[in-house]
Amino acid sequence: MTAADEIKIKKIKESKLSQISLENIPFGKYFTDHMFEMDYHNGEWQQPIIRPYEPIMMDPSTAALHYGQAIFEGIKAYKNKDGEAFIFRPHDNIKRFNASAVRMQMPTVPEDIFMEGLRTLINLEQNWIPNQEDHSLYIRPFMYSSDEMIGVRPSEDYKFLIILSPTGPYYNTPMRIYVEEQYVRAVPGGVGYAKAAGNYGAAMYATAQAKLKGYDQVLWTDAFEHKYIQECGTMNVFFIIGDKAITPDLGAGTILAGITRDSVMVTLAQLGLTVEERELSIDEIISAHQSGLLKEVFGTGTAATISLIKELKYKDYIMSFDVNSWKIAPEVKNRLNQIRYGQIEDPYGWMVKV
Ligand code: COI
Repeated sequence: MTAADEIKIKKIKESKLSQISLENIPFGKYFTDHMFEMDYHNGEWQQPIIRPYEPIMMDPSTAALHYGQAIFEGIKAYKNKDGEAFIFRPHDNIKRFNASAVRMQMPTVPEDIFMEGLRTLINLEQNWIPNQEDHSLYIRPFMYSSDEMIGVRPSEDYKFLIILSPTGPYYNTPMRIYVEEQYVRAVPGGVGYAKAAGNYGAAMYATAQAKLKGYDQVLWTDAFEHKYIQECGTMNVFFIIGDKAITPDLGAGTILAGITRDSVMVTLAQLGLTVEERELSIDEIISAHQSGLLKEVFGTGTAATISLIKELKYKDYIMSFDVNSWKIAPEVKNRLNQIRYGQIEDPYGWMVKV
């Protein structure tokens, strides 16, 4: 299978789009008319197909349901002011997808086929890309083990799919975050850096506990001392302390290498801040707060974009912020949006034309 081999296309008879309004659309609830599908069988990828979006038949013994060989990505497509469709940094997502695949003992997807699949599918679904600010076409590529057997071993067969969802913001309002010091998300040597489905399932209990206490998400800390900050449930995290922007480093393999995280680091540096990727302890954050140096706290992610954090709670210590007075996070968001919607030049080559 090479990208030169044509992707088979089976079109729907009538689009669902006329029944859906793309204005103020919630995150991840509606899906476009078609999906991309490709199976891995006999040690190689088979003929890819774009076909109508519909449920997938699964044998109850399907391996992914039992042992969790399942990975995914989150990417976004936008329309520029001339109505042309662009994808934000898809090559970086493809590389991260394949790094997740390697860690989960799954086959990698050749980058050219992945990219051609994205392009062809989005091209077909261009009308589904919302025009509204903070809205986009969310792209969800994913892969799962599809062997029908319940022995514990890596599957021989896999299914790779790409589905699309026109979407609005994931978080609508500034967030309250609970610094977690009982449960853990990731350990060195584990799968924290992979976008493995199980990482999200494993986080749900602790997140639900934090929600019972009135918080939106947890901020994970390291597994050994619960001292060093890792990431929030669905986003990486940044702290503006004095004139520095600090975000936890990726060194221990316990943090997702966010593509928005990387884009934000570039943008912060452009705004003149010193950007540091390093170990950051909760004690350092608290002392910065006490001395008035902790200016802004925000999360970054494909779905979350830039999400302001208005409260952080660690044990009995609560840090509250007046997010309306912030300048940096809104400016970063504004600059990234201008690039995404084609309102300013994209000096980094982040926007890839469909
Ligand atoms: C994303 O930001 O794309 C994510 O995958 C986070 C979440 C929606 C699971």
